Amino acid sequence: WVLMKTARAPSNIAVIKYWGKRDENLILPINSSISVTLDYLFATTTVAVSPSFTSDRLWLNGKEVSMESKRYKNCLQQIRSRATDVVDEKTGLVVKKESWKDLYVHVASKNNFPTAAGLASSAAGFACLVYALAHLMGAKESYEGEFSTIARLGSGSACRSLYGGFVKWNMGKEDDGSDSIATQIVKKDHWKDLVIIIAVVSSRQKETSSTAGMQTSVKTSPLLQHRAQSVVPKRMVEMEEAIMKRDFATFAKLTCADSNQFHATCLDTSPPIFYMNDTSRRLIGLVEKWNASEGTPQAAYTFDAGPNAVLFAPDDKVARSLLQRILYLFPPASDADISRYVVGDQSI
Ligand code: DP6
Repeated sequence: WVLMKTARAPSNIAVIKYWGKRDENLILPINSSISVTLDYLFATTTVAVSPSFTSDRLWLNGKEVSMESKRYKNCLQQIRSRATDVVDEKTGLVVKKESWKDLYVHVASKNNFPTAAGLASSAAGFACLVYALAHLMGAKESYEGEFSTIARLGSGSACRSLYGGFVKWNMGKEDDGSDSIATQIVKKDHWKDLVIIIAVVSSRQKETSSTAGMQTSVKTSPLLQHRAQSVVPKRMVEMEEAIMKRDFATFAKLTCADSNQFHATCLDTSPPIFYMNDTSRRLIGLVEKWNASEGTPQAAYTFDAGPNAVLFAPDDKVARSLLQRILYLFPPASDADISRYVVGDQSI
């Protein structure tokens, strides 16, 4: 017999960035963070279990990869230890709690977005893996947010992908990571008018992975310590308040400032890390000039560990105007470095 479950989990973009760990094994951050869930960029994962499987195996976007990494093993072990008796509704098959430890899993995961675009992060993948495994093995949370602590063991940002809308990852204080947990601030429909545009900036540059980049920053950047201790705590409070009040001006100011400080930290790292390119910087210039000329923020930008821009506008009308301005700066037929725009589930 084979028992199978499929799940889908979204990606997310941080507006207050996580950068730096205080524990590499448990993936505990040196500061809290806030993200917006990007429903239309997602991972779909099928997990299967069968007595005929002889090892745990994993396929990512159709290619088999090793499941030997500590990150996969930790997630799998945590869910396995919470497995319960499972009865398959369709076939009536019963898998007893005590048999899960002897059963191997096969996992197949794919992103609905080209991985090369640098957007389909590990966040959606690990959130999806944990959710799908929990479903398969009948694991239940013993407190709210417990699964986010397991997704966190796969990739820090993955803990925020278990919820929709606006999500906060509290850094926590405990050594065992039990309070380093993600919770929802508000559902997506709290701020219905907010428009998110993703500008996919094509890049031939070789990227430094987030994991490696933040390791070097923790070791070498004095700005990182200052940011974690004196800047982010205040921003967390202000950002949550701006989201609650749907205060776009404050949201925009904080989002841009935090993206810029994250990239400043990368530059403050030795050797320096460059994630943005000229196109990214021209997009920043466009938004900054527009905002300055209007006297109040019209749009906001944020960039993760890559050159793609995630842009925010307070409503459809402003979003259209923003798109027009970007298209004027980067005409489709020019040698523009932007391959496409994604607004909601539409690709332009
Ligand atoms: C810049 O979560 O990918 O996107 O925990 O090592 O897997 P690991 O790193 P990852 O780092 C994300 C960094 C970021 C900011 C953010 O998402 O908060």
